[in-house]
Formats: sequence, C-alpha cells, structure tokens
Amino acid sequence: MKGVVLAGGTGSRLYPITKVTNKHLLPVYDEPMIYYPIKTLLAANITDILIIVGGESIGDFLKLLGSGKELGANITYRAQIGSAGIPVALALAKEFIGNSKFMVVLGDNIMEDSLKKEAEIFEKNDAGSHIFVKEVKDPERYGVVEVKENKVIKITEKPKQPKSNLIASGVYMFSPKVFDIIPNLKPSARGEIEISDVLNMFIKNNNLSFSGIEGYWTDAGTLESLYHANTIVRNKKTKK
Ligand code: G1P
Repeated sequence: MKGVVLAGGTGSRLYPITKVTNKHLLPVYDEPMIYYPIKTLLAANITDILIIVGGESIGDFLKLLGSGKELGANITYRAQIGSAGIPVALALAKEFIGNSKFMVVLGDNIMEDSLKKEAEIFEKNDAGSHIFVKEVKDPERYGVVEVKENKVIKITEKPKQPKSNLIASGVYMFSPKVFDIIPNLKPSARGEIEISDVLNMFIKNNNLSFSGIEGYWTDAGTLESLYHANTIVRNKKTKK
C-alpha cells in the first residue's frame, strides 16, 4: 500500500503563527507536526509516501525531510497551488497511486494507534474506502458520522447541530476508485469540495467500512487543538 500526507492549506486558523511558515512545520512537543502523519503511515508498514505541499513551502519540507531516509520513508513531493478542499489536493496523487490502494493522513492529524492491522485487512478485501472514527466533545468542528445497525449511513461536514459525537478523523483508506468520484463533486456552501461528500458517494455505493480509534487522536489546526496536541504528546512521551 502507498501513503499520502496532505500538507497544503494556508493555516489561517493559526494566523499570525503561520504567516511565514507552513502549519505542518510547527512543533508538536519535540517534533515538527509533519513527522506525526508520516509516522502513522510508517506504523502501518507504508513507506512509499507522497507529500502534497502548498507550493510556497515545498523547499522547507525538502530541507526538513529530504528523501525521507532518516525516518525510514521514501518520500515524493508534489506542489499544490491554492486550496479548494481536501479532495482537490488528493486528486494530485492520482499518478503516484496508480493501481494500488492507499492511506491518506491529513498533515495535522496526530494519533497514538497503529493502523497496521486495518491496513492489511483493507488491502485484501474489496472495500473502496475506510474511515477511522472517534468520539469527541466538539463534533461540530468535524465530519460527523451517523451509524445505524453497524453501518455508516451518512457523514455531515461541520453540522451546526450534530446528530452524534462520532466524527471521521483525517485518516482515510481508499482504492483508486476515489479518483473517478472527485471530479464529479460540487463545492459546498463554504465554497470547498468536501472530503465528506467523497465518503458519502462511497456510502451510497455500499462501499465504505469503518473502525474506531482506541488511543488518543487530535487534529492540531486551531490554537486550542495545537496546544492540546502538544500536551497529550508530551504527557505520553514523558509518561506523565
Ligand atoms: C477535515 C475534514 C473533516 C474531518 C477533519 C479531521 O476538516 O473536512 O471531515 O473530520 O478534517 O481532522 P478540517 O480540519 O479541514 O476543518
């Protein structure tokens, strides 16, 4: 299986910290944020990794990560110009992925679990997509997942009145079928192509599986969540 890390975007929610640097290069305790999604992929035995980076900062990523050898990865880079939504960035991975199944991690997602077993299962079965879900206190910030009779029936992006506390983390597994879905999507009310709409297409075709995240998981794209990420990673690494 191959891996993709999405590290584009403007980091506007962290402004002015992100005025001169890419969000994914900021520290999360003792390592740059981008190390965490890369390590999530490596823990799932995925070493062939494409990093999709906002065009302006590609040189900084290259300086930090190089070929990926130090981390045990084989890294390829692709520049993303503009930010029109996660699926638009993901579409840039089409040639890199070819015919293989793959795991995508949003560059600001930090998690404790190893997803090795789930990746092995997904690679062998005929599911087109897989999400990793987690219960959170503030579901309205995320893609909210509705489950009925052990099946995901709908994902709603940032609803004002969430129907559950269960959300889709920014870690996904896809078959290359995803690249046929993306070009047909229309922008949402906030003017972006939404990853939740990609997932809803898979749900419609009865082709989305899911599993829970046991350990900690957080994003780090807002001041509060970045602070929280630093705290939980520090607590874990220093065993507080
Ligand atoms: C994105 C996705 C959302 C998902 C979240 C996880 O939101 O759109 O569905 O739950 O990542 O981190 P964003 O962080 O872009 O607001």
